[in-house]
Amino acid sequence: MKKVLMVCLGNICRSPLAEGIMKAKALEYGIQLAVDSAGTSGYHAGELPDPRSIEVAKSHGLDILDQRSRMITIKDLIDFDYIFCMDSENLKNVLALCRNEIQEKKVSLLLSHDKDSEVNEVPDPYWGGGFEYVYCLIESACDKLCRSSLISL
Ligand code: 4NP
Repeated sequence: MKKVLMVCLGNICRSPLAEGIMKAKALEYGIQLAVDSAGTSGYHAGELPDPRSIEVAKSHGLDILDQRSRMITIKDLIDFDYIFCMDSENLKNVLALCRNEIQEKKVSLLLSHDKDSEVNEVPDPYWGGGFEYVYCLIESACDKLCRSSLISL
């Protein structure tokens, strides 16, 4: 079974949504997939997702209350097959943790897998909001990934 890790900065806003959405999509498409999420920081380690992420997930029928924030580890780079980052800063920080080319090849921007996306990063909604927009960007990319052969084979 392929293993996917969704990564943002705090692991309370974007990547918990990405984890919840990807789990739901995998179920919908009948793809055996293990999905987790993490932050490049440990600012919110142990915390529930942000209430605004919980709310927008709920409005789309998803429950993400089982999630707790954690910081990405070196082991994650070994354990996971694909590491999808929300923005370029996350990408840079995860690549800096990589020990070899095999690990580097696992890492990409989530939205680089959505050819129809008008932006290539999922913007940080923590200060400015825009959780519904963030949800839509992530949902579209996860749908594309499940329709592609990348994670389903
Ligand atoms: P996230 O959002 O990376 O999507 O979880 C943020 C959460 C917390 C902070 C920044 C971004 N913070 O600075 O505490």
